[in-house]
Amino acid sequence: MNKKTVLSGVQPTGDLHLGNYLGAIKNFAKMQNENDCLFCVVDLHAITIFQDPLELRNNTYETTAAYLACGIDPKKSIIFNQSQVPGHAELAWILNCICRVGWLNRMTQFKEKSGKNSENMSSGLFTYPTLMAADILLYKATHVPVGSDQKQHLELTRDIAQKFNNDYKSENFFPLPEPYIEKDISRVMSLRDGNSKMSKSDPSDYSRINLKDDQDTIVKKIKKSKTADTTIPISDDQINKIPEVSNLFNIFVGVTGLTKSELLSKYAGQNFSNFKSDLSDALIEKVCPIGNEVTKLMQDKKYLNQIMYEGAMKAREKSAIVLKDVYDIIGFVKQ
Ligand code: AMP
Ligand code: TRP
Repeated sequence: MNKKTVLSGVQPTGDLHLGNYLGAIKNFAKMQNENDCLFCVVDLHAITIFQDPLELRNNTYETTAAYLACGIDPKKSIIFNQSQVPGHAELAWILNCICRVGWLNRMTQFKEKSGKNSENMSSGLFTYPTLMAADILLYKATHVPVGSDQKQHLELTRDIAQKFNNDYKSENFFPLPEPYIEKDISRVMSLRDGNSKMSKSDPSDYSRINLKDDQDTIVKKIKKSKTADTTIPISDDQINKIPEVSNLFNIFVGVTGLTKSELLSKYAGQNFSNFKSDLSDALIEKVCPIGNEVTKLMQDKKYLNQIMYEGAMKAREKSAIVLKDVYDIIGFVKQ
């Protein structure tokens, strides 16, 4: 049987939100029964933009807790912290020597994050996609569950893997990893602006549902969320014309598992108040238990340390095998 190897990562840079959950983490738990899975808290990525050390440490625990609270089972999956496995940084260096500057220049996420200020960003932020490629290739992962904003980084990972295999005449050494991107909810949008992504860095907290939000906050945020001046559209086509409405429908589908046509048959033509109140209930049912579990787990750092330690040991063992082969292929002298 050919088991897939699944790897993904989340940066410990702030409160996790519904976009992280629906776009990525929810799929992690789904994939762990049939595949070899590794889920990583990517602190090396986080410091490409300055992080306060105390906050970084706290966020690393919190992201680990969120993995557990979202149903990732440390008996089935390897949960670990990137900086505790030195192979990530080691392979990233090698892949930096494979990846072309021109390829990195095309990365839209760097352009978005740096804006007009690119000369002043860290060089780590520029080469960040090669570290992401290293995260994936270090375990020869074949499938990577991510939100659609990461698609371009996955394509770059494939280019890097292919060039390594070609340059070193090591056909099929690195597999070419496939993104696993869920349709419709691969890009959850801001509740205030249906054209921008729900994001940790949006200054308005009303733009997102955080996994730690309590019931009242969720109700308030959904009540205030932008919709349309009209009643609820009566067809899929009409929904798709209004980004904010389409986003709320996608979120509703994502948290309940109902289809859009089931939702339409219930709410089409009505005003938004029933729809919003039912959506809030569904969100409360899904999100609040996760937030409560994160709060509970954060009281037990000893347990979280143990999870991270055991995960790191397993990840070190796996990654050492691949890294040894890479060193060999490249021509580094063996001791
Ligand atoms: P980050 O918080 O940037 O480390 O993202 C962690 C994961 O969540 C990645 O797979 C992202 O693609 C995914 N993600 C982040 N924001 C969103 C969003 N608004 N919609 C869907 N997926 C998202
Ligand atoms: N770059 C991803 C993000 O910002 C996080 C990430 C780092 C990742 N390494 C990864 C995702 C490896 C998937 C696989 O969201």
